[in-house]
Amino acid sequence: MLMNWDDPLAVQATPEPAAKPPVVEETAAVYAPQSTAPAQTMAEQPLQTQPNDTLAQSPQLVPQPAQPVTEKPAKAKKPTAAAPAVPDFDQISADPVKTDDKRVVNGMADINQLAPFKYPWAWKYFLNANKNHWTPLDINMTQDVHDYNHKLTLEERHVYENVLSYLTTSDILAMRNIGLAVMEKMSAPELQIYQARQVYEESMHTWTYQHCIETIGLDQGEIYNRYRVVPEIYGKIKIANQRLNSVLRSDIDLRDRDELENFVMAYTFFAGIFEGTWFYNGFTPIFALQRRGLMKGTAEQLQYIMRDEVMHASFGIRVCKQIIEEEKVKLDPKAIQQMWEEAEAAEEAYSKNLLPEPILGYKHEDHVAQFRFVANRRAKSLGHKEPFPGAENTLPWLDEQANLKKEKNFFETRVTEYQTGGALSWD
Ligand SMILES: [Fe+2]
Ligand SMILES: [Fe+2]
Repeated sequence: MLMNWDDPLAVQATPEPAAKPPVVEETAAVYAPQSTAPAQTMAEQPLQTQPNDTLAQSPQLVPQPAQPVTEKPAKAKKPTAAAPAVPDFDQISADPVKTDDKRVVNGMADINQLAPFKYPWAWKYFLNANKNHWTPLDINMTQDVHDYNHKLTLEERHVYENVLSYLTTSDILAMRNIGLAVMEKMSAPELQIYQARQVYEESMHTWTYQHCIETIGLDQGEIYNRYRVVPEIYGKIKIANQRLNSVLRSDIDLRDRDELENFVMAYTFFAGIFEGTWFYNGFTPIFALQRRGLMKGTAEQLQYIMRDEVMHASFGIRVCKQIIEEEKVKLDPKAIQQMWEEAEAAEEAYSKNLLPEPILGYKHEDHVAQFRFVANRRAKSLGHKEPFPGAENTLPWLDEQANLKKEKNFFETRVTEYQTGGALSWD
């Protein structure tokens, strides 16, 4: 059953838990691989390689000098007296919690009492998230080591490394955002329960990227630091950092309308853009390799992450809408449009650096067009007007490709199961 990417709770996410080590998968690329080295048997392949020097080999792929960091909060406020996010226990009734007293923020109910639920959907998210349990060690990466060293072109290695670099930086940031900036401001425990699970999942994602980086044998210091020296990666991280820094303060009083509005904008950014659009689109280049039978282990890891991220985005969007309704927040439509356009400009620059030349089956124009298409979907969920009217679904295979088709056969997948959607084309 395919996942509904706009309403993830519409289907049951029930991958089988790990029970034994995965088997080595066969390789059956749809297209002839773009070998950069003579074919060797698997037995001849070292599991670890020398730190790659792919960037140094290609002038257009050389990282640019680091840009000065000039970050400041998206909407700076003067520090105010600390305002507790939850009420003082001496000032609230000792009677059982009434759902009417619960609010997403600024609520007056006992934060230590989970039920009765005011937001039963949040509990449902938590229960569903626990059905998607996995670890990166469950997935066989052996073929990926071979593919990276002997099948990927220089351009494809560049894509693979930059995607990993961007994603691992982003996931650390996502963990800090939800765990340190968002969760403490919630005043209903059923919301915090799912967010606690989300924090754990973000850390699992970071482990996954580290597992890929280690297994392939990439230079860890270089990959993790790449976002600081490649302006096109840094551009996206900088925007996210600004939003995060503006709400990562313990002295925020969400009874202040400006602070509340800024918090909702920041959470909207993280759910709708950072997780819902940038992450969603961010995995796509690896799925494009997967469609050709390349880097299938990494792609499968990303399929699991993507399932989590779709839940995170959907949950965050729902929380934002709930705050807007309860607190009667009015966001500035111009500021919202500006936020989407800023995200688009950063994505476009990122994509140009990622794909200075097309790789087989994937090009810069596809990436940007798909960003706009997904952005419109997320905006619709948020109740915003479409930021990019007329955007088309340029990668119709993506939703299906991103779905795990392993619920019943986790360890016995063959590459043919991945080969879905239309034919690949250079056009
Ligand atoms: Fe994540
Ligand atoms: Fe996330």
